[in-house]
Amino acid sequence: MIANSLYDPEFLSRADRAHHLHPWTDLETLGTREPIVIAEAEGVHIHDIDGNRLLDGIGGMWCVNIGYGRREMAQAIADQAARMCYYSPFGPLASPPAVELSARLARSAPGDLKRVFFTTGGSTAADAALRFAQYYFNFIGQPTKKHIITRENAYHGSTFLSASVSGKPGDRAFMELLTDRVHHLPSPNPYRRPDGMSVEEFCDAKVADLEAKIVELGPENVACFIAEPLLASGGVIVPPPGYQRRTFEVCRKYDVLYISDEVVTGFGRLGHIFASEPVFGVTPDLLLCAKGLTSGYVPLGAVLISEALIDRISGVHAKGKLLSIGFTYSGHPVSCAAALTNIDIIEREGLCAHASESGAYFQKRLRSLADLELVGDVRGMGMMACVECVRDRTMREAPPSDWEVGRRIFENARARGLLARPMGHLIVLSPPLIITTAQIDRLVEILREAVIATMDELVREGLWRGESRSTASALRPSAVS
Ligand SMILES: Cc1ncc(COP(=O)(O)O)c(C=O)c1O
Repeated sequence: MIANSLYDPEFLSRADRAHHLHPWTDLETLGTREPIVIAEAEGVHIHDIDGNRLLDGIGGMWCVNIGYGRREMAQAIADQAARMCYYSPFGPLASPPAVELSARLARSAPGDLKRVFFTTGGSTAADAALRFAQYYFNFIGQPTKKHIITRENAYHGSTFLSASVSGKPGDRAFMELLTDRVHHLPSPNPYRRPDGMSVEEFCDAKVADLEAKIVELGPENVACFIAEPLLASGGVIVPPPGYQRRTFEVCRKYDVLYISDEVVTGFGRLGHIFASEPVFGVTPDLLLCAKGLTSGYVPLGAVLISEALIDRISGVHAKGKLLSIGFTYSGHPVSCAAALTNIDIIEREGLCAHASESGAYFQKRLRSLADLELVGDVRGMGMMACVECVRDRTMREAPPSDWEVGRRIFENARARGLLARPMGHLIVLSPPLIITTAQIDRLVEILREAVIATMDELVREGLWRGESRSTASALRPSAVS
């Protein structure tokens, strides 16, 4: 039990099961499963309501980049709430934190992304950017440029439009989505490339997919390509080297806007405030951010827009025209004040450089799990990674969903003090950027034990062949590599 707990665990459990509908709820078990209530947190650790201290391998949800419990953040939020909690951002109205943050983001942004539109999170950023692209082409007299190209395994959000351009098959069942103008290219996942194809050939094929789709639709009908630099929620898919730059060049060739979704990759996770240009050589027309922008302390998102686009639809060309996109909480002063302090902390503590160095160590240590028979692929970059489990490594075949491999690894890791994110047969990791090498070692050790415990369970329950290994335990911890 947490010391001096303000909370009654029994009440929370009952009320959660009776009334609380969580995002991505499993309806079969609705109301029957004990919630895991996280009540306190500091640094890279979270505490559940029963007092268990867990290493947070998830970073909240890819977002608590600077770590938990920062007094400076709490103070900035409290100060702004006391000084001026909210005023409308519409028309000429503005708050000092929103103005200052727009200038600060423009300074860190690649190319001419100098115009900042604030949203409430990542989904609304994707939604606003896509609506902006449609508006832009209507405005400049190219109203046929309406089609949007995206990819399987993409995730851009949970509004109608951002969900429509997302591409995780399981998320689309029973949903009505915009389909006639949205086109999903095959996922650029090198692990799933055809047998015998080199990574370079695979890259050529994925770039060709984009070009072929633009040509098939007619460039005059294609508005934009929306892409995460790495496909985060799709399983931390790292496209082959050169893919991002080459797809960007294809977009330039056909006058298709390139929207870079840096909701996860921004604010240090790949070692830069924005990774598009320094890491991937992409100078997008629009760039989306959220999550690490405030490190999750309060909600905020933003779309950074190229000045060249803005120039074509503003000023003398735009008499009487309104860009009717906006939210009550666009540029919320408390959120913007939090973002400014968050960026101060990232800069002062050199968290981008730290994430680059520790990210390299994190990736190297995680790859030591590849000797476990259940592990098919370990991939990632910087401070984001995925361990993909398979029933057969040669065939790269996913384990049947009723083996519940992800849930088992999650539970086995949790019992040992680590929270990792299960997604089907994938385990996704994105810890706070402040994680130390000792904590990375601990995370990897626990994950190894959790995978081994899961293999033991599967063998014991007769679900998985045990013959190829005398027992899963034979693979017990290897030395630090
Ligand atoms: C790449 C990406 N874009 C957009 C979103 C949606 O952001 P939000 O949940 O803040 O609306 C997410 C959420 O995980 C994301 O990973």
